[in-house]
Amino acid sequence: MSVAELEPINGDFEGKHIVSMNQFERPDIEMVMEGAEEMAAMVDEQGRSNILDDLVVANLFYEPSTRTFLSFEAAAKRLGAATISSQGVEFSSISKGETLTDTIQTVDAYADTIALRHGEKGAAKVAAGVAVSPVINGGDGVGEHPTQALLDMFTIKREFGSISDLTVTMLGDLANGRTVHSLARSLSKYNGIKINLVSPRELRMPEDVRSEISGKVDQEETEHLENVLEETDVLYVTRIQKERFENSEDYEQHKQAYTVDAEAMKLLPRHARVLHPLPRVTEIHHEVDNDRRAVYFDQVANGMFVRMDLLAKVNGRSLEDEEA
Ligand code: NCD
Repeated sequence: MSVAELEPINGDFEGKHIVSMNQFERPDIEMVMEGAEEMAAMVDEQGRSNILDDLVVANLFYEPSTRTFLSFEAAAKRLGAATISSQGVEFSSISKGETLTDTIQTVDAYADTIALRHGEKGAAKVAAGVAVSPVINGGDGVGEHPTQALLDMFTIKREFGSISDLTVTMLGDLANGRTVHSLARSLSKYNGIKINLVSPRELRMPEDVRSEISGKVDQEETEHLENVLEETDVLYVTRIQKERFENSEDYEQHKQAYTVDAEAMKLLPRHARVLHPLPRVTEIHHEVDNDRRAVYFDQVANGMFVRMDLLAKVNGRSLEDEEA
């Protein structure tokens, strides 16, 4: 079985698989954010475009998803593509024992782009090794979630104007939360970033991510949120990832590890922002939702624009290709 070497984006997305934020340098991230801004303007003006109307996008989601799945669907449709979708292992041939690579080769025959969510770290890379059509990683187990990181970066850019000289505090299950793995890698391409890693000892950011970003960002680990709130510009909250725990006692022990509530918000600077990839369970109190610093529902909208841009880019299209 061939496992694809991850090709750097290097300013050119066409035909490439998007598996890890390690494929991106800062100019590549900037290109996506600019493209997403154009998609947002287009949607605002005309709702949809026809630049992908000869293409089929497959959404293969073998783990639960609301936002990533629906936003890939919406993104494809707003650009005129047709979508074919499969959600849940129980309704797919994987439940009959089919391998991922056989499934991917099949879907590759039907579709021009494959968005894949899978429970195993490395699954997107395996899929990329057999697919001719670009595979976009929609989350691979505890691995990465590059499209989420790009929408998180886009949200930070929109809120702060630029991504530099920011202190980003990542909170929660940093061991199992794939979004923070991809976000930390993305932030490490920018200057003047400090990352506070706040988690229970058992749920620390993995060593490989910490060593990859070391020397590129300042990083500080702590178990105590209150120690870093006052210096925080971006508070990035994550869910304790229940489905990754081998026994329920460990989950029970950690599930209430942190709660961002009105009290915590008092310590957070006025200019700060609170992000969360969602779904939220108990880690952000609902009373925080009305605080103007809470932007997690703006992230949701931004996600569709980022995925529209990526679908266009990997297929070598842009809004300039629109036909009247
Ligand atoms: C995240 C994921 O699936 O990793 N959700 C998402 O895609 N927005 C975060 C999570 O499930 O906690």
